[in-house]
Amino acid sequence: MSPQAQYYQPLVQNDVDVEQLKLKGELNDEPKAPQPQATFTWKRLLLLVLATVAVFQGSYLATSYFVRPRSDVHHRRPQGHRIGTPCAGSHRNVSSVASLPTHYTLPSGDKIPSVALGVWQAKPNEVGQAVLAALKTGYRHIDDAWSYQNEEEVGQALKESGIPREEVFITSKLGAQFHAPEDVEWAVDDSLKKLGVDYLDLYLIHFPIAVKKGTVDQVDEDLTANPYPTWKKLEELVDKGKIRNIGVSNFNIPRLRNLTANSLKYKPAVNQVELSYWNPQPDLLKWSKDHGLLLEAYSPLGSGTLVKETLNVPEIQQIARALSITPAQVIISWHVQRGTVVLPKSVNPSRIEENYHIFKLPKDLVEKLEKAAAAHPPRRVVNPSKRYNLPYDLYDDDGGVIVPDDDDLA
Ligand code: A2P
Repeated sequence: MSPQAQYYQPLVQNDVDVEQLKLKGELNDEPKAPQPQATFTWKRLLLLVLATVAVFQGSYLATSYFVRPRSDVHHRRPQGHRIGTPCAGSHRNVSSVASLPTHYTLPSGDKIPSVALGVWQAKPNEVGQAVLAALKTGYRHIDDAWSYQNEEEVGQALKESGIPREEVFITSKLGAQFHAPEDVEWAVDDSLKKLGVDYLDLYLIHFPIAVKKGTVDQVDEDLTANPYPTWKKLEELVDKGKIRNIGVSNFNIPRLRNLTANSLKYKPAVNQVELSYWNPQPDLLKWSKDHGLLLEAYSPLGSGTLVKETLNVPEIQQIARALSITPAQVIISWHVQRGTVVLPKSVNPSRIEENYHIFKLPKDLVEKLEKAAAAHPPRRVVNPSKRYNLPYDLYDDDGGVIVPDDDDLA
């Protein structure tokens, strides 16, 4: 018998017994002489009590069988079930965000949400629906770029959502063909127009590669070796109010040091780079933390190329099983726990929702995952070095840029 049943049973018996007896005037301080009908009355009362008990116990058993307590439902989560989903509402601030950061603070004081919807490779006629699904789920950070060629559809979805502009953090990026200072403002204006907004929360130099005007792959050596003229133009656009924060993307440590060696009015707020189980970049992460630079993880699941492999990594699966969350949630949570913004891409509403729910992983499991991620040679999905015919690897080389000592950093 369950503890509840034990509790209910005597309560019902006592209540009924005592009250019935009192009502019938048969429970007095003075003992009464036996009366002819007394035996009959006692029998009736006994039967009544037993019937009452049977009814209460029966209804309790039926209730406990068909209507399980909520806590029981939560503990009987099937393997791989999304633990964010059954909790009230679907917002991670109810159940899942407990102690992972929902936002980081940028040098400007602006708050950047830790999980964004990535829209790179989201096709036309898919991306708008994905943005709407994300905003409905609770995402307030969309990571776009001029070169993704989907800013118009993203902008329409933002408008359609009816969510006030200031509640959504929007990022776009400067294409490699617009690094010439005289072209930068045009590129920003074009993104603003397409997205249907009058300012961007964050604008990044998309690649540390500038190409010559009117070409797609002829490298402009000067602006590539020295991005400072491009950066100065971005600083002007911050002052004009068209961009609130500026940063870079795909910069390695030598290139970051090369840029930040200049006397900058605004230092890069973020560096968006490929970070995944296959390419965890622990050195860049450490350097960035040491220098107060926030990293953003693109292709966090390994992109379309490696996502299946990622989700099948034994360590990731083990953690997912242990915590009753999905492998994708393990990876996305791991990124935020490492202290980066994470930009999972999906156009599928249920995966969009899945990816939004992050969970603090136990320290020992994070260490295990970090170790496993560092135990194999790095594998990148994105490396345009060949496309630009570079005589060096864009990520592993300084490309001949002038790199001062760390001490010389501004
Ligand atoms: P889809 O858009 O159909 O959901 P990344 O974020 O590393 O760039 O990975 C994107 C790839 O991973 C896309 O192919 C995307 O497909 C897929 N993906 C995104 N979220 C999940 C998920 N939770 N489970 C499985 N695949 C996912």
